[in-house]
Amino acid sequence: MPTQIQSTQQATLEQHLNLQVANWTLLYTKLHHIHWYLSGPHFFTLHVKFEELFTEAGTYLDEIAERLLSIGGRPIATLKETLSTATIQEAKGTQEPNAWVAETIRDFAQLVTELKEARQVAEEAQDGVTEDLLLSIQSKLDKHIWMLQSYLGH
Ligand SMILES: [Fe+2]
Repeated sequence: MPTQIQSTQQATLEQHLNLQVANWTLLYTKLHHIHWYLSGPHFFTLHVKFEELFTEAGTYLDEIAERLLSIGGRPIATLKETLSTATIQEAKGTQEPNAWVAETIRDFAQLVTELKEARQVAEEAQDGVTEDLLLSIQSKLDKHIWMLQSYLGH
């Protein structure tokens, strides 16, 4: 039987993983929104880049949800719960391409912060496999942030 502390740590870890599930579900749609609605002289470059990003988002969503199932959790799987749980804001309308890129950098930076928090909880729960998964996603996001900042000339 798990101790009270172990059960509490497990529940907290599941909450953190479900926040990731909700945010990646939302981002999967948001990155499509940008892919479809951006315009301007860099359309072709950014259209392809955002397709790469939403494809990755779909992979992370599935990996985190299946890890959650593997440790006995229940991943969020409805849009209603996604919207009530996600901390990333949905996209609205259109804006300049560079504003989309800057917003994506902010969203990814927020996810990095939340991934670090989730990793800390996984460490406390002695769940090295989840820690590894979260770290690998964080390293991809760090690289995207650097590349998108370079695109903006920052
Ligand atoms: Fe497309």
